[in-house]
This record gives sequence, structure tokens and C-alpha cells, in this order.
Amino acid sequence: MKLIIAANWKMHKTAAETVAFCHDFCRNLERYKGIDILLCPPFTALDAAADALSGTTVKLGAQNIYWENEGAFTGEISAPMLLEHRVEFVIIGHSERRHLMGETDSQVHKKMRSALNSGLRPILCVGETEEERKQQATASVLERQLRGALEGLDPAETESLVIAYEPVWAIGSGQAASADDAEEAALLIREMVKKLLGERSAAGLRIQYGGSVKDSNIGLFVRMPSIDGALVGGASLQAESFRALISAAGDSLAEGK
Ligand code: 13P
Repeated sequence: MKLIIAANWKMHKTAAETVAFCHDFCRNLERYKGIDILLCPPFTALDAAADALSGTTVKLGAQNIYWENEGAFTGEISAPMLLEHRVEFVIIGHSERRHLMGETDSQVHKKMRSALNSGLRPILCVGETEEERKQQATASVLERQLRGALEGLDPAETESLVIAYEPVWAIGSGQAASADDAEEAALLIREMVKKLLGERSAAGLRIQYGGSVKDSNIGLFVRMPSIDGALVGGASLQAESFRALISAAGDSLAEGK
């Protein structure tokens, strides 16, 4: 399975800063052909990013979507609007949206449906809070989030899904999950996808780990048999650190799983 490493910039970078990053980052990326590299800037920088990335292998993603195509939904952005800006991927159900903006499993489901119907490729985020982890509820939280997001989707549309396991307590804390815990979650996620969407969707699924990933720990995650990449916040904001992280993942890949 081809690794997929995505930069989630959250609410960072203007269009001008995005262009500067892309010029710096996109030099000599040919040797990382074995990795899908993806940038997810804020909406306002998507167009600038699409221009700056054109002719490179780096793909473009958005950080959120609304499920209706148009209408009286002040402040929201729809799938056709994202497609017009040459967006290929979209992050759905990030924990910051779930916990800071109150996004529910049913809204996540509608967003998944809208993205898939319009040909965008969702990166669905799931993960437990620290409290849930302490209560040993990780498996049941993942099951609830996956069932909420995926149940009822057309299996024919979900054969190349990306799901990011992002434990909430590991995001921005400097304290990543252990590779063994991430692997355990990834196994559970693949099993759930098989149950909800069938063999083909489970076989085509790529699972990322996210939460305090950096160049010094990415190798531990991508070496795990069930983990196919990472969703990276802080360490993706500087071209140099994101490049170091991609390079470390590439080295680790060369050593084999
Ligand atoms: P950090 O890499 O900053 O912990 O953020 C992870 C994240 O939320 C990516 O979506």
C-alpha cells in the first residue's frame, strides 16, 4: 500500500505564506515518489496552493466541507466549491471540529456522503479523548465513530478510503501514542470497515496515525504492518521539518515493514 502523508495546517498560513512554503518544499521531491504527499491549507489559501503545486506530485486537500451543495448556510463551503479549487482530498471529522465546534457523528456521515458523491476523497478522522482512554473506552469510541460515519455508505464508493487514527490526547501535546497502541487501533479500524463496508473497502483502506508525529518518530509508525501514513499538524508547518519527516518515512520504507 502506498504511504500517504498529509499536512494539516489547521488555521495557519495566509495565501502568501502558502506559496512561500510550496516553493521551498517542492524542490527535489522526485525521490519520494513512493509516498503520496498532501497539503491541506486553510480554504483561503487553496487556490494559491493549487497554482504553486501544479506540475509537482504534491496533492491538495481541504480541512472541512459542508454536506449541501449550495443554499442558505452562511460561512460554509461545499464539495463543488472545493472541486473548483482543484482540491482532491478533504479532512472530515477532525477532533478539533468534533470537540471545539460540536460536530456530531451524524454530521460527519453527511459530510462523508457528500464528499464521496462528488468525487472528493475523504480523510476520516477518529480517535478517543484522554478521559475515554483512561476509562478503557478506546475501542467502543472508535466503533461508534466509524459506525456513525460509514454505515450505509455505498461500498462501491469506498474502495480507496483514508482513515486517520488521531487520539485526541496526542494532538499537539508532544506525546505521541506508542506504535503498538496505534497498530492496535488500526487493526480495529480495518476490522470495523470490513464489517461495515465489506472486504474490498477494508483491503483498499489506508490508515494514518496522527498526533505529535515528527521526523524522529514517523519511522516507528510507518513500519507497523497496518499503518500506511500520517496526518501531521505542527511538524508540517515548516518546509524543512515536513521534508525531514517525509525523508525519514522514505528511509524507513526502504528498510521494509
Ligand atoms: P500535531 O501533529 O500538531 O499533533 O497535530 C495532529 C493533527 O491534529 C493532525 O490533524
